[in-house]
Amino acid sequence: MTRKIIIDTDPGQDDAVAILLALASPELDVLGITAVAGNVPLPLTQKNARIVCELAGRTDVKVFAGCDAPLERPLVTAEYVHGKTGLDGPELPDPTMPLQDAHAVDFIIDTLRDEPSGSVTLCPLGPLTNIATAFSRAPDIVDRVQQIVLMGGAYFEVGNVTPAAEFNIYVDPQAADIVFKSGVDIVVMPLDVTHKALVTKARNDAFRALETKVGIAVAQMTDFFERFDREKYGSDGAPLHDPCVTAFLIAPDLFTGRRVNVAVETRSDLTLGMTVADWWGVTDRAPNALFIGDVDSDGLFALLTARLGRL
Ligand code: RIB
Ligand code: CA
Repeated sequence: MTRKIIIDTDPGQDDAVAILLALASPELDVLGITAVAGNVPLPLTQKNARIVCELAGRTDVKVFAGCDAPLERPLVTAEYVHGKTGLDGPELPDPTMPLQDAHAVDFIIDTLRDEPSGSVTLCPLGPLTNIATAFSRAPDIVDRVQQIVLMGGAYFEVGNVTPAAEFNIYVDPQAADIVFKSGVDIVVMPLDVTHKALVTKARNDAFRALETKVGIAVAQMTDFFERFDREKYGSDGAPLHDPCVTAFLIAPDLFTGRRVNVAVETRSDLTLGMTVADWWGVTDRAPNALFIGDVDSDGLFALLTARLGRL
């Protein structure tokens, strides 16, 4: 039984790898890819999503452009990490596959209404603007969502864009607040786990050793992507954030976490976008998310490399 998913994304090299993993995995049926402004502005994220689909040989995948700015705040981007194109590293051709005419938010709403209730999982890999806009515009779809598996947030690992906040949540905290309060069954892949998914040299070499267009491109993407994080964290490779989302859908046993309440700071200048995880249950706030804290990283990269080798 394949699992129907919508990938909401701001490619970004790690988004690209997450999309490739999904497209290489028969367990997943990608109903569509919805682009959102985040790592780079929307014109680039929607273009990069199509570049990645063409790299995978999947020009059949529907790609939609969504929101070009957060709900209430000015857009913050991350070219310093991802490069000016958002997909720096490999030399990939401009896409020829079309961008869908419909707005991404309308696609999300229509798909959740048209597919059987509880049969579609949303996989946000960037700021939650598209998801929150869809929920606000069409509240009837909230109960029809099977699950949300998202990359975002941080607790014990602290923030990456401010001392308190992770980038996806920080860019649009109001959207994140709507999603975390929606009542949908949520699985969170925070920095707490993604910082354990490090692209070491051996793992990058394994991508390159596939000796395929995809394998070499992924090795070049992660080479580019990691130069910033390796210097910042002094770690043995850069964290590969977004593929944790699609890997969880394929092999959930690679991950462990705890169901806790996660609340989002939407007002404080000091801690805006912080995901406050009630890890010890010291409040009366009901648990609303499975907050993932650990991963079998060797198992993750073995799965990822094997699947990329199929493209
Ligand atoms: O903080 C990491 C997240 O921000 C990842 O999704 C990365 O692609 C960027 O969107
Ligand atoms: Ca992303």
